[in-house]
Amino acid sequence: MRKMIAGISVVLLVACDSTGDGNETLAQANASGNAASATLENRVQQSDATPLQKEQALALMEQRHESYEKIGDAMTVISRQLKAENPGLGQVRTAAATITELAPQVPSWFPAGTGPDIGKTEARAEIWQKPEDFAAKAQAFREAATAFNTAAQGADLASIRSAHANLGKSCKGCHDLYREEE
Ligand code: HEC
Repeated sequence: MRKMIAGISVVLLVACDSTGDGNETLAQANASGNAASATLENRVQQSDATPLQKEQALALMEQRHESYEKIGDAMTVISRQLKAENPGLGQVRTAAATITELAPQVPSWFPAGTGPDIGKTEARAEIWQKPEDFAAKAQAFREAATAFNTAAQGADLASIRSAHANLGKSCKGCHDLYREEE
């Protein structure tokens, strides 16, 4: 199942990612040399001709949901620690690493055909109507995540807290416009 989902992501990256990040991911996927590679190439070729299948779209939307849950859980851990008098920096760093790893993938989670007209999602249709602005929000998030990760490597709580506040703003900056709050 995991390999299948990875294959789907690669197809979508090739089809839809214009930031250049998708190419890295594709290169990594191809370099991994596992048995799925041949299948991946077939899928990539097919994707030029056939639109995203509904089944694939729903699988991707489910994966997107899970990835955001990971980001949300990591932020909860960080917020809890930073409110404490003696924050556990080990936990903060682990959570920062999770967010930093996922942040560059965000643009690849929103190929055309994974919006509210396809299935249950909190992603708003505006994402596909204003792709450049959405990409800018994703980029701001990526930069804030990197800055937070850097601050978290140190032990200066004031810097870590300030970088955390900026990171939180980058979540909100996107959610306010592009996520349907339930
Ligand atoms: C570039 C836009 C963007 C950024 C930046 C962003 N999000 Fe989101 N987030 C979304 C969208 C869109 C959804 C809805 C996804 C869906 O339902 O398919 C979402 C969903 C979520 C969810 C709910 C999971 C779900 O699918 O129900 C959580 C939790 C979450 N985001 C946390 C965060 C946190 C924490 C940050 C910052 C550290 C963040 N997000 C940054 C766009 C963004």
